[in-house]
Amino acid sequence: MTTSVRGGQLARLLGQWHSLPGRHRSPDYAALAGAVRGLLTDGRLPLGVRLPAERELAESLGVSRTTVSASYRALRESGHLTSRRGAGSWTTLPNGHRVATSGLWTPGDDIDMIDLGVAAHAAPAELIAAARAATDDLPRFLGSAGYHPSGLIELREVVAAGYTARGVPTSAEQILITSGTQQALDLVLRLSVPAGASVLVESPTYPNALAALSGRRARISTHGLDAATGWDGELLLGALRQTRPRLAYVIPEFQNPTGHLMPTELRERLAATAHAAGTELVVDESFVDLPLDGAEMPPPVAVFDRHSRVVSIGGMSKAYWGGLRIGWVRASAPLVQRLAALRVGVDMSSPVLEQLVTVHLLKDAATIVAARRTELSARRDALVVALGEHLPEWRFFVPTGGVMLWAELDGPISSALARAAEDVGVRLAPGPRFGLDGTLERFLRLPFTLPADTLTEAIRRIASVRHDLDRAGRPAWRTPTVIT
Ligand SMILES: Cc1ncc(COP(=O)(O)O)c(C=O)c1O
Repeated sequence: MTTSVRGGQLARLLGQWHSLPGRHRSPDYAALAGAVRGLLTDGRLPLGVRLPAERELAESLGVSRTTVSASYRALRESGHLTSRRGAGSWTTLPNGHRVATSGLWTPGDDIDMIDLGVAAHAAPAELIAAARAATDDLPRFLGSAGYHPSGLIELREVVAAGYTARGVPTSAEQILITSGTQQALDLVLRLSVPAGASVLVESPTYPNALAALSGRRARISTHGLDAATGWDGELLLGALRQTRPRLAYVIPEFQNPTGHLMPTELRERLAATAHAAGTELVVDESFVDLPLDGAEMPPPVAVFDRHSRVVSIGGMSKAYWGGLRIGWVRASAPLVQRLAALRVGVDMSSPVLEQLVTVHLLKDAATIVAARRTELSARRDALVVALGEHLPEWRFFVPTGGVMLWAELDGPISSALARAAEDVGVRLAPGPRFGLDGTLERFLRLPFTLPADTLTEAIRRIASVRHDLDRAGRPAWRTPTVIT
């Protein structure tokens, strides 16, 4: 765990603190304190972390020590910093203040809030019937201890059959059932990424993948996706050839957060290049069931894997329900065995009942997923209309699947907007959440998992605070030097 942050690191996180909206009215020290508070409340600066000494931060930011000193004092007064003479200053939060450390909020912590911070939806109606059917199955399992580190064989078979149907012949021995896709990723990283090993990820990418990677103390390099066009094949393959990372993590279907779908040709070259570079390719298929416009899906990346270099991960959260906490890994049988041995040291095995519920839900897959897709495409269209009406200056690629779009804003205002939107009851995940270095302030992820009228209302509210930011005095935006 991080216990201290260096001057240069904090300066990078702070990014354009001196040109945040409304800034022209406040002195430097107050703007700096405000920016640190912003980092804390959107989770990019952890709680309990030691901030750099005043002199060090002053040097890194190119401001006077008096400015840093005054801003630390302001942070202490607002309850965001605690200092002990000779020992330093630690980040804290005033009582009752909420913080999104993980990108997820405590459910029900504020029922009036429209939550666009989480790209996930309510359970399908079929879940209740599946749960009832699962309890009928339960007696068969109650005579044993109930630990199945690789997962229940009946579920492994159904998941394996799903891969086979998609063109990747798979046996049940090649499937490990996990507690969500997140655990699938975490286990693979634990096994394959020793501290200090290099890992290539997309930028922007799924924030909790970055969180899992930071737990491994990996050396992370990024491939920047273009908001409008997605992956640049030559750059991505070039990065693999040059850096030869231990592992690369990609989300080829309706990428989180950009919504892009990786073309077939790049999938094939990616698998071949990863093999040549000695890189293990982890393919997160979280959104694979959710093409929205009836287009044919490209083959899974694993189709092109001739050397067991590809590890596919997926789960139930996006097409079904996150609350099930069921995911999986598809890999070679020996790798699955090693992962199962490892997971015993983590959580022993996934719950039996939820696995049985999943087996029943998957029997109804065609109906459930079809309804999901119809619902999602109507919601996506409503979001696109609302954006066109209320925020016509924002630009975005309309994804052909998945659950989110990635909007390019009319300035580097994403964090400021997220803070302002909280005041009108909308929770947002600002762009920098999806990157490593405090950039991406020009972008905002907008999921379309909520009902159409709720999305329209959310956009109306966001537009109202966007225009208030302008009234507070539009700062002279500097073009960010890096948007990766
Ligand atoms: C790309 C990606 N991977 C993994 C996850 C985590 O999924 P799960 O709920 O199955 O752990 C998510 C959830 O948002 C995701 O978007």
